[in-house]
Amino acid sequence: MIGSNILSFAKSILSDALESGGIAVDATVGNGYDTVFLSRSVGSCGHVFGFDIQEEAIAQTESRLEEECTAANWTLFKAGHENMLEYIPEEFHGRVGVIMFNLGFLPGSDKSVITKPETTIAAVRSSLSLLSVGGVLCIAIYAGHPGGDDEDSEVRQFCRSLDYHSYRVVQSEMINKPGHPIRVVFVFKL
Ligand SMILES: C[S@@+](CC[C@H](N)C(=O)[O-])C[C@H]1O[C@@H](n2cnc3c(N)ncnc32)[C@H](O)[C@@H]1O
Repeated sequence: MIGSNILSFAKSILSDALESGGIAVDATVGNGYDTVFLSRSVGSCGHVFGFDIQEEAIAQTESRLEEECTAANWTLFKAGHENMLEYIPEEFHGRVGVIMFNLGFLPGSDKSVITKPETTIAAVRSSLSLLSVGGVLCIAIYAGHPGGDDEDSEVRQFCRSLDYHSYRVVQSEMINKPGHPIRVVFVFKL
């Protein structure tokens, strides 16, 4: 059921902007679940660029993609997403349909390696220039872990400040979920 999990809800929204042959970016590949979703969605004529700073995440994502995807349509970079404009070839700038961020730490790994507000916001800025008109940026934000609350508030403050005439920003979260529900921010480029 789409609504049972906020991340599957987010993917159902993104499906509209993901077309066969499209270009997508996974800014935080982690265990590779989102990269697999993007790879399958854009198909053999599309392409997915993925970033992570941890070798473990890149290796895990590579093997998940090889096992679960039929098209070899991805390029993974062991690099910070704040450098994405340098890594993604210029021919794709302004042509990306969907960019996903899943912030925080890699589940099952070193919880001290986390995304940080300064680099996340730099990457979000770059993402806005990579997106096509009609493209969507999706940021899953986690509070509750050390550093998470600051990132949550700084990233949402940045998104809140985007010009309404150029972008529409939507926030969704399960407001009856106990603890710290994941917040998902969508930025739609007009
Ligand atoms: C919550 S996990 C991502 C989960 C992933 N999307 C999945 O489907 O399994 C967050 C990831 O962000 C990575 N990360 C932290 N700082 C980063 C940066 N500056 N650039 C790219 N990735 C970063 C971490 O190494 C970690 O693997």
